[in-house]
Amino acid sequence: MAVFPYDIHATDGRARTGTLRTMRGDIQTPAFMPVGTAATVKGVYMDHVRQAGADIILGNTYHLMLRPGAERIARLGGLHKFCGWDGPMLTDSGGFQVWSLSKLRKMSEEGVEFRSHIDGSKHMLSPERSMEIQAELLGADICMQFDECTPFPATPDQARASMELSLRWGARSLAAFGDRPDQTLFAIVQGSTYADLRAESAQRSIEAGGYGGYAIGGLAVGEGHEMMCSVLDVTTPHLPADRPRYLMGVGKPIDLVEAVYRGVDMFDCVIPTRSGRHGQVWTDTGPYNIRKAEFAEDDSPLDPAIDCPASQNYSKAYVHHLIRSGEMLGQMILSRHNIAYFEDLMRRIRTEITSGTYDRFVSDFRAAWA
Ligand code: GUN
Repeated sequence: MAVFPYDIHATDGRARTGTLRTMRGDIQTPAFMPVGTAATVKGVYMDHVRQAGADIILGNTYHLMLRPGAERIARLGGLHKFCGWDGPMLTDSGGFQVWSLSKLRKMSEEGVEFRSHIDGSKHMLSPERSMEIQAELLGADICMQFDECTPFPATPDQARASMELSLRWGARSLAAFGDRPDQTLFAIVQGSTYADLRAESAQRSIEAGGYGGYAIGGLAVGEGHEMMCSVLDVTTPHLPADRPRYLMGVGKPIDLVEAVYRGVDMFDCVIPTRSGRHGQVWTDTGPYNIRKAEFAEDDSPLDPAIDCPASQNYSKAYVHHLIRSGEMLGQMILSRHNIAYFEDLMRRIRTEITSGTYDRFVSDFRAAWA
């Protein structure tokens, strides 16, 4: 399988900035990947996602296999063509979404049997089926191993059993993925909050051989910001310096800043679009809700500093009115602005690392964060 070239341009402490070169284009890291769960970054045109500065978006095996069906997407030419995004795409392997969305699931060594959250129909996901869906049918550039996201809290015994299962499923994922010159497969490090397990999971994933990158899973599942940072502190030192590191499902701007500080290169999160649909506007000092009465006659733009039409061309008073009226344009403007804010933050992070001033940036960001 392909191991995409990853050039690290600069490091500052443990933070790094670089370029991951995929067959569908370059990804500047640290990178934020907007989530396109159902073959759409909800409420935002793909050109606007690109204009906001995103190099790569994420898709979900679980949702797409249920609707419209992975085989159907394959017949229509693959996920890129289907949704009109021609850049790099990463897909999650499905287990995490089964765990968080579907009821009535049955776990076994083989995989997980579950009922669709849409119509109750019965389905099966295994490492082999997940690789077939991600690599063959959807055609993702970066695929994720099939894993179990260890629930929090977990006892050391539960965390070890879950980690061992993910390592076995990882080996089966590697075998099923096979020899794909244009696509790559990332490992997912588990181990809950236990430093020894995180180190062992990283080490054994590296020994498995062939992974193009290393994700850190099982975080942002209720352990809290401080604990997440502590786990990153004891995990990233065990990952290869020359491969991309991806923190799954994270997070708020402060989480991104702190995780980059600890050596993480890639992120994905639904926050910009999901919270945008509920009226939230993200800034360097935290989110605020545009529904609040104080914005009813505020004629200033959402954020004139962000190079994005949604951030510059509409007043807070107008977006306040749209959101309060349930108008879909309000949700679209906020989703687009929030993605542009997150991508702008990543650009600033890359610049600060290149300048060797990331320490100062992190201190200032912590101080400003509400
Ligand atoms: N998304 C957020 N956390 C996880 C995880 O641990 N595993 C997978 N596959 N996806 C995730």
